[in-house]
Amino acid sequence: KKDTIILGIETSCDETAVSIVRNGTEIMTNVVASQIESHKRFGGVVPEIASRHHVEQMTVVLEKAFENTDITWDEVDAIAVTEGPGLVGALLVGVNSAKALSFAKQKPLVGVHHIAGHIYANRLEKEFEFPLLALIVSGGHTELVLMREHGSYELIGETRDDAAGEAYDKVARMLNLPYPGGPHIDQLAAIGEETIAFPRAWLEEGSYDFSFSGLKSAVINKIHNAKQRGETLKNEDIAASFQASVVEVLTAKTLKAAKAYNVKQVIVAGGVAANKGLRRELETVFSETDIPLLIPDIKLCTDNAAMIAAAGTIAFEQGRRSGLDLNANASLQL
Ligand code: KG4
Ligand code: ZN
Repeated sequence: KKDTIILGIETSCDETAVSIVRNGTEIMTNVVASQIESHKRFGGVVPEIASRHHVEQMTVVLEKAFENTDITWDEVDAIAVTEGPGLVGALLVGVNSAKALSFAKQKPLVGVHHIAGHIYANRLEKEFEFPLLALIVSGGHTELVLMREHGSYELIGETRDDAAGEAYDKVARMLNLPYPGGPHIDQLAAIGEETIAFPRAWLEEGSYDFSFSGLKSAVINKIHNAKQRGETLKNEDIAASFQASVVEVLTAKTLKAAKAYNVKQVIVAGGVAANKGLRRELETVFSETDIPLLIPDIKLCTDNAAMIAAAGTIAFEQGRRSGLDLNANASLQL
């Protein structure tokens, strides 16, 4: 059987990324241009700045991607692009670039859901086994997705308010840590102690949904009250206590769902999957079961285009195609 070579494009947030993947599993080239430095001083991603950077970076990143590999345009079977969800102006740059390339190079176009991409980042490391449970934890998402076969996604739980990464970034901001705050909280948590008992949002019995806004408010209140009373709280202890709450709920619900649905594999995806505390706790609890746990390398956890090409490969092989009328969809459903 002939190889399937897919070029992936990702511009949903603040990384301009192009990658080429062979057979959905092998990275031939993977270039990511991060804009973090430009957004840092605003304490978050500024949509207009993100779009402009994508416009400036797209051709640079595309050229670099081809410089890193022997693969030529002739060999590319299709172009996969993130069509949503994300920042609409940012998504539009990727979608329009992909459409222009599809037209100019006469290659089929495949729109990809950003979360499907995060899930398929795992397949770049290990073949999937179904049924599979995916925990997706990023700046915009906190979801438990059941997959019974390739390309099929069943949402069994999701956040009712803030995403886990969003809670990390907001707490980090209160502690005056730079954007994105997740990695900084993670580092502080490693040297702090859980001295504050923050709430755990378990929600109703049997629910696989999440909620992080209550925890975020509890952290804000704790900091304000301590200030008023002249108490000093150590940032590392706040970080450790906050992280303990997030990690405990994410881990417990993932374990419960994995057992309830009798899955053959658990995978973790999204930027927060880079969290050392979460990785350690998941590894500990799953090592006590016979369910294999897969967490991709940190550079495949955060936004990249290899994951879009990997998810796009399955969509392409299943015959899914997008037309040149493909549009960015900021709130696309999985
Ligand atoms: O998947 P991603 O790169 O972009 C989205 O699609 O959202 O995730 C970014 C999120 C940010 O909220 C960032 O703070 C968080 O992932 N993050 C972390 C860590 N590394 C990145 N959160 C906790 N601990 C980390 N080590
Ligand atoms: Zn993402």
